[in-house]
Amino acid sequence: MTDTHQRELNPGVNIPLVGFGTYLIPDDETASAVENALAAGYRHVDTAEVYENERGVGEGLRRGMQQAGLDRGDVFVTTKLWPLAGERPKTSEETLRSLDESLDRLGLEQVDLYLIHATFGREQRLEQWQGLVEAYKSGKTRAIGVSNFNAAHIDELAEAGLPVPHANQIELHPWSQKPDLVAYLSQKDITPIAYSSLAPLSTWRTAPGHASGKTQEMRAEGEQSDSPFKRLAAKYGVTEAQLLLRWGVQSGYPVLPKSTNPVRMRENLDLFSFRIDDADMDAIRGLDRGAGLAWGEVDPTTHD
Ligand SMILES: NC(=O)c1ccc[n+]([C@@H]2O[C@H](COP(=O)([O-])OP(=O)(O)OC[C@H]3O[C@@H](n4cnc5c(N)ncnc54)[C@H](OP(=O)(O)O)[C@@H]3O)[C@@H](O)[C@H]2O)c1
Repeated sequence: MTDTHQRELNPGVNIPLVGFGTYLIPDDETASAVENALAAGYRHVDTAEVYENERGVGEGLRRGMQQAGLDRGDVFVTTKLWPLAGERPKTSEETLRSLDESLDRLGLEQVDLYLIHATFGREQRLEQWQGLVEAYKSGKTRAIGVSNFNAAHIDELAEAGLPVPHANQIELHPWSQKPDLVAYLSQKDITPIAYSSLAPLSTWRTAPGHASGKTQEMRAEGEQSDSPFKRLAAKYGVTEAQLLLRWGVQSGYPVLPKSTNPVRMRENLDLFSFRIDDADMDAIRGLDRGAGLAWGEVDPTTHD
């Protein structure tokens, strides 16, 4: 990746368009995965309190940065506050403490982006967002945002007199394009960050225990030799994964592919030597199915 493969999050803070996702990587495997990711060329790593692998991410960052001769400023790190669904809302002080605990596990003094991971209750959101605003002012994070928020959730923050987030991390891929939300984010100058870009792949989250809302019928569709993504990938001489990730970055969304397989890791980073033409981008627009798959039964974007 070159320096141009970035997007400005807020003045002076750029987010690399390809990040390394770490959801479902066990903590004891995460250090090696992150170290390998930095060696492969990733300069952006996405983790979260609830992934329970922040220690491994921190260790992998230290090893990988030393090996590749990188400074802290060369790598963009995101973590997220877990809202403790159904539990007592975190106050803004507790939110600040959660960030301190994440920083401690990561072994960092500052993250580049801190996000509220999901919605779950109005009081909680406002309290937590106040905490994130404080964290931003204190310099413990260079940017702040939300994840899985819809337009109404973001309007609520503004109506409470609070600043608008720099980013909203949401499930975005050709099967879940969210055109209304993306237009809203663009109008508010909020960067959409895409997760689960690879959800349409038949190989997506197939390991035991990797639950999702994906049905057997959807998997079978992806296995058909004439599936739309297989056809397009063949046309551009790339893999289906590269085609799906290219759709994201070409749309302007930072993407967060997760793989512990070194070949796939490199493949998922190699997205800038081809361009999906306008007719194919239009055709992909017609493949939208609406709701996402990553959260299984729960749809965090519809929570009150
Ligand atoms: N904010 C949120 O609520 C939220 C929700 C979900 C995810 N995320 C973030 O976004 C990241 C990515 O999302 P995700 O983990 O759901 O899924 P993803 O990166 O879209 O897909 C990962 C799955 O695809 C497989 N895969 C990866 N590269 C491949 C390739 N080149 N060819 C074939 N298969 C490939 C992986 O298997 P192998 O590992 O075996 O290669 C794994 O099963 C997460 O890790 C996390 O950091 C955030």
